[in-house]
Amino acid sequence: MGSEKRAVYTELAGQLAGLIAGEPDLVANSANMAALLYHGLPGINWAGFYFARKRELVLGPFQGKPACVRIAWGKGVCGTAAARAAAIVVPDVDEFPGHIACDAASRSELVVPLVVPLGAGGRVVAILDLDSPRRSRFDDEDRAGVERLVSVLLAHHPDWP
Ligand code: SME
Repeated sequence: MGSEKRAVYTELAGQLAGLIAGEPDLVANSANMAALLYHGLPGINWAGFYFARKRELVLGPFQGKPACVRIAWGKGVCGTAAARAAAIVVPDVDEFPGHIACDAASRSELVVPLVVPLGAGGRVVAILDLDSPRRSRFDDEDRAGVERLVSVLLAHHPDWP
């Protein structure tokens, strides 16, 4: 099971690198990454980015139902992951105080911050949010896999504004 998941993320990392190779536009590249995750991972009903704008998160490229446009820094799962500069796995959104329900079907969630430059002391420039209609869809292996994908995108955009 674990090695199957790792294989999926390895495959997705290769596909992502191919999709963004030679393209400098970060909106185009993050849009394709959202589509790659939405269609490439099973059991996902929303995949997309929120960009950091003046201490608030603003909706970026995504796949899924229309979503909340602005999320205050520190609010919801997305705002909390941004404020902590750390990924959050939420097995059951009903158990996360302050969870923001954009799609009532979402039951579990994984949010990974994009930190530039990579490593300690960086600045959160965006978050990547994955939602699932299944409880406990995401585990530590998904967190590590999505963090790896995020690092592929960030390595390609080291001067993310
Ligand atoms: N559930 C998120 C909000 C974003 S959407 O689900 C697309 C949160 O609590 O931050």
